Amino acid sequence: MPLINGQRPGTIYLVSSPNDPRSTVPDRLASAGGLSEGVARVLSRDTGLHEADIYGVGSFYHLLARPEARVRVCGGLSCQLAGSREVLSACKAAGLPTEEISCLAACDRAPAVLRDRRTLPSVTVEDATRSAGKVEDLCSTDSETAWLGTIGPETQSMGTHALNLLGEPDWSAEAFKAANKMGPAALFDLLEESGLQGRGGAGFPAHIKWRAVAGQAVQKRYIVLNADEGEPGTFKDREVLMRRPDLVLEGLAIAAAATGASEVYLYLRGEFEVPSGVIAQAIAKLEETNRYPDITFHMHAGQGAYICGEETALLEALEGKRGMPRLKPPFPVEVGLWGKPTLVHNVETIAYIPGIVLKGGAWFKNLGRTEPGTKLYCISGHVQNPGTYELPLGISLDELVETAGGYVGTLKAFSPGGASSGFLPASERGRALDFKGLGSLGSMLGSAGVVVLNDTVNMRWAAEEQLRFFEEESCGQCAPCRIGTHYLHAAVKGQEKSLGLAHVGDVAWQMNEGSICGLGQAAALPLTSALKYFPEDFS
Ligand SMILES: Cc1cc2nc3c(=O)[nH]c(=O)nc-3n(C[C@H](O)[C@H](O)[C@H](O)COP(=O)(O)O)c2cc1C
Ligand code: SF4
Ligand code: FES
Repeated sequence: MPLINGQRPGTIYLVSSPNDPRSTVPDRLASAGGLSEGVARVLSRDTGLHEADIYGVGSFYHLLARPEARVRVCGGLSCQLAGSREVLSACKAAGLPTEEISCLAACDRAPAVLRDRRTLPSVTVEDATRSAGKVEDLCSTDSETAWLGTIGPETQSMGTHALNLLGEPDWSAEAFKAANKMGPAALFDLLEESGLQGRGGAGFPAHIKWRAVAGQAVQKRYIVLNADEGEPGTFKDREVLMRRPDLVLEGLAIAAAATGASEVYLYLRGEFEVPSGVIAQAIAKLEETNRYPDITFHMHAGQGAYICGEETALLEALEGKRGMPRLKPPFPVEVGLWGKPTLVHNVETIAYIPGIVLKGGAWFKNLGRTEPGTKLYCISGHVQNPGTYELPLGISLDELVETAGGYVGTLKAFSPGGASSGFLPASERGRALDFKGLGSLGSMLGSAGVVVLNDTVNMRWAAEEQLRFFEEESCGQCAPCRIGTHYLHAAVKGQEKSLGLAHVGDVAWQMNEGSICGLGQAAALPLTSALKYFPEDFS
């Protein structure tokens, strides 16, 4: 079907452009210190946009909507297991302007707290008390290296590991040169041979997206890096950005050259102040040495919304709007950023590209066990050494936990891929943690944010916490998700006015069938899986 202005005929989609003042609204709001009545009026005058539009954007993003809350304590499952509720109370008691926030991608360093835009790992009740209510004094000695977590296994090499997170950055751009020499067609074949699947959650074959973008009639194309990591239990992209910015930027440059794009947008969540600094420095270094002369890198900070990790919501956010997922099709490879063909990739996916170019598709494929390649597994909760572990795709939970020093207590349940994957019982501990196998169980590998729960945890409580997260983070655009997450949260909490757990199955079905995006489609899973595997916790 021919595209008109980069859109399918009949697609209702508001196309804006990079020069549209709309795309500057979130940044302007952030510079003005967040949303307030006065700020919305001034920005309306400056941009020519309606005041209600400015309000809509400002009130959508957590970091803009409540600027007065300068301390935000993570309420995610892993942080709660490490005592974040006590830290929250201590912060409030100390007089700090505090609220709760969803996962900060620091679940291995729980409890995590966001002070303004900086995430502080392993905050204690004593830290909160010692601050005596002064925000600046809350963990004021934190250093940037405090952000680095445990990486395993301890011995890594490019022979057995595709990312080699413990290796030294390599700024030689050898892979970029090799990819250019190879040409796009051979590179796409190489990607196909490698079997590389997207690591952002869906596991979609990378080569199909690259070919699709390269094959579009529209000449203007974009590459977008999805670094909005926010799935509870997931923190691997943070480590890649901090430790191997060389791989990320070279992978993006290779993607741009192969698909005919000259502009690359890096969308990092707003709470990634430290990784953003690392990436900004790396881009400056590359510009100084003119490594990728035909490519422009643009950095963009999110303003706090889990849903912006969904790729089309992310594109909306980049365009300066509320981050609400678009209806698909059309997919971003056809109609993406500002209506143009766009290749969106997760940080981990893109970081594999230089290694595949230099070492070959078969090399990468053979690193995996049940599916191609290695995988960054994040593990947190009741394990000895929470951290990021690069292991063959398809290892089991027991193998992963053994690498991470063993279980704390007796395993009861685990979620293999963040909140969206629901819970599995201990009896699945030997199953391959891969895309296909977990899918056949009605669960998913997702972003491989594995959270381990021991037998001290009540699964009704765990399901309630995950539902609270989904209710809070639903963008509210479609009724099955907006109403469904609220309904299920009330039901699992046993709220007086809720209809109880009798209708959970029907509601879950409606959410799965009728929601626009993966959030609503998966949001019931923590509850339905907990009911299925742990009915005794609901009696
Ligand atoms: C609710 C929701 C949240 C998501 N969050 C992220 C995220 O934080 N990071 C990410 O890379 N992909 C996320 N995704 C997946 C993206 O939509 C998309 O599939 C991915 O960025 C594509 O990159 P990949 O092919 O490299 O996986 C999310 C999807 C959904 C439905
Ligand atoms: S499913 Fe939920 S998060 Fe996704 S578009 Fe609908 S309301 Fe928004
Ligand atoms: S940082 Fe708290 S659960 Fe992820």
